[in-house]
Amino acid sequence: MASWKGRDILSIRDFSRGDMEVVLKHARKMAPFAEGQKSSQTLEGKILANLFFEPSTRTRLSFESAMIRLGGRVLGFSSVEGTSVQKGETLADTVRMVEGYADAIVLRHPHEGAARLAAEFTERPVINGGDGAGQHPTQTLQDLYTIWDEKGKIEGLSIALVGDLKYGRTAHSLAHALAGFGTSLSFVSPPGLEMPWEIIEEVKKSGTAVSTTHRLEDVVPVADVLYVTRIQRERFPDPQEYERVAGSYRVDLPLLREAKKDLILLHPLPRTTEIDPVVDRTPYAKYFRQAFNAVPVRMALLEMILGVGG
Ligand code: NCD
Repeated sequence: MASWKGRDILSIRDFSRGDMEVVLKHARKMAPFAEGQKSSQTLEGKILANLFFEPSTRTRLSFESAMIRLGGRVLGFSSVEGTSVQKGETLADTVRMVEGYADAIVLRHPHEGAARLAAEFTERPVINGGDGAGQHPTQTLQDLYTIWDEKGKIEGLSIALVGDLKYGRTAHSLAHALAGFGTSLSFVSPPGLEMPWEIIEEVKKSGTAVSTTHRLEDVVPVADVLYVTRIQRERFPDPQEYERVAGSYRVDLPLLREAKKDLILLHPLPRTTEIDPVVDRTPYAKYFRQAFNAVPVRMALLEMILGVGG
């Protein structure tokens, strides 16, 4: 395993199952610190730069919370308004300059490959906080952590990824990661928003059993984990195309009557209409816990790449 100190986190494909398990175990140790029951100063004197060229609530705030809970500090921006990007500054120049202001950089950007490009211009570790329809590796670690924490294992589970599998970066990263864990995977999407074939091929090559369908009803009775995603409106070249598929799926109480008793329902959030809010009160709903889990997982990653803690 490569050393963690100074490591970029650009794509989940750069991480082996063993690497991911190290993060999950470290995250578990961070849980009482994330809850505020214990306090730690391992990142005292360290600065994290949050460069968000696209909207974010959870990713940005959970990185901030993680950093602050460990005694570090955060600077950055949450939209390009008010930055020199509006004057035409390139990503490369922005990153070169931020290198002088911070010890690690989180980047969210509308262009696929932006984080990898940024990493070429700085020695500081770069964390991909979502690059267009590409990848979202730290969300995946939080998703894996949630599955592991709720189910006690990942191997052997039947996991269905539902929604916009074409543009959804959280679904892309999670599919890649699960390929190494011995699960069986179902991809459920509306016609036209299927999981890219390269990802399906790669997952199959790992020996994972993969099925694809357009019907959510097909997977509900067999799934241990239902991972629901939003249709990514902002990625559609044509708004009419979005209207055609918006509201394709809705997880509600009648649908869940067919589910296993111990099904867990995950969603990277934000949701639009794909989960009926009445479902929040059922024991299936784990998506707010999943959002909280961002904090211990990002605490673990920050300690590891900044080379402190244990
Ligand atoms: C996701 C994203 O930005 O890709 N949000 C998140 O980080 N939790 C999911 C989405 O926007 O649908």
